[in-house]
Amino acid sequence: MKFFIDTANLDHIKEAKDLGILDGVTTNPSLMAKEGITGKENIYRHYKKICDLVDGDVSAEVISTDFKGILREGKELAEIAENIVVKVPMIKDGIKAICEFTSLEIPTNCTLVFSVGQAILAAKAGATYISPFIGRIDDSNWEGMQLIRDIFEVYSMQGYDSEILAASIRSSMHIVDAAKAGADVVTCPLDAILGLLKHPLTDIGLAKFLEDHKKAEKS
Ligand code: E4P
Repeated sequence: MKFFIDTANLDHIKEAKDLGILDGVTTNPSLMAKEGITGKENIYRHYKKICDLVDGDVSAEVISTDFKGILREGKELAEIAENIVVKVPMIKDGIKAICEFTSLEIPTNCTLVFSVGQAILAAKAGATYISPFIGRIDDSNWEGMQLIRDIFEVYSMQGYDSEILAASIRSSMHIVDAAKAGADVVTCPLDAILGLLKHPLTDIGLAKFLEDHKKAEKS
């Protein structure tokens, strides 16, 4: 399973990259706004910085919601760097645009996927990635991870090529569950990635090893 970081924060991206396990980045308009990046030029410049920082795919989301606008914007975003993936919302014009991007060989990430039916449509359109939003489904009192299991089952059965990118990840446990459910990629905040490192028995075990080593050195 590939690890993407879900942020537009350059320090977080650098920290995950330094860990050596980073395969890519996803952003969205809310995450860009959170970093205080506004205005098309600044936003595109920020995408360029992210793309220069990582070797893997960087999802950059369109703001347009009509077919022509999505196409124009997607083509502009794809010009920023070779590793840009155009992120397109799961709407009618979005699906039409993904079909067009597929024929132009521009990679896409179909975002805001909340059902197996949507995942099937996005796969038929040729999306490179499809992003089911696990945390947001959990927030509405349904089981988000079941959607990953169901999409994995259908994609395996039908031989669809789109990669299942588990998004809206809120915890380290979500990452483990996404791996068990068959996700190809997980995109998560830095905290959730770093949380995977933690186990109290590791800390206790390491303290004991170091203590025994120290005692032996003294004797
Ligand atoms: C996915 O690509 C989205 O950027 C993201 O995972 C949404 O997560 P949220 O529900 O925590 O905003």
